[in-house]
Amino acid sequence: MARLEVIQGDITKLKVDAIVNAANTTLRGGGGVDGAIHRAAGPGLDVACAKFGGCPTGAARITSGFNLPATFVIHTPGPVWQGGNQNEATLLADSYRNSLELAVANGCRTVAFPSISTGVYAYPVEEAAPLALQTIKYFLGNHSQLERVVMVCFDERTYTAYQRALKTVQ
Ligand code: APR
Repeated sequence: MARLEVIQGDITKLKVDAIVNAANTTLRGGGGVDGAIHRAAGPGLDVACAKFGGCPTGAARITSGFNLPATFVIHTPGPVWQGGNQNEATLLADSYRNSLELAVANGCRTVAFPSISTGVYAYPVEEAAPLALQTIKYFLGNHSQLERVVMVCFDERTYTAYQRALKTVQ
């Protein structure tokens, strides 16, 4: 079975060691996948997140998964798309890499990502998808303890973009 997979689904339902949350820099919840994860995890997640006092774009923080089937939630604020000349690509890659670093540091073997920054933050998914998968693929090559990373796409358009990108990074 491939170590990097792209599926369509709801990340809050996945029983993996860690799911990644496309957060904002306050780490106090929001809409999109952030809202879905906080709703599914329950109020304990917000209490745990409050302790961090926020998180810079591209960095990552880890908490328990509370009522989620996942053991951990890794929170990372991706970049807001501002046209592509504000270091967005580097910050997006940082979000993926720093989340994976935290997952490995906490003994995770299976990790699920949403499509970071391509919703409210308006990062074009056709640009984000190959960058995200390339970053994950490179990390997997250097970290054999990671057994499986799943990109969980919520809608059809995102799923198509990541399936297409997967062919270019295999
Ligand atoms: N499972 C998987 N993916 C999901 C789910 C879900 N349950 N719900 C939404 N998504 C997808 C969206 O369809 C999109 O493809 O997550 C991707 C990221 O979109 P957003 O959640 O809008 O995240 P982002 O673009 O990174 O913007 C972050 O939005 O929710 C707020 O608090 C968050 O301010 C932050 C901003």
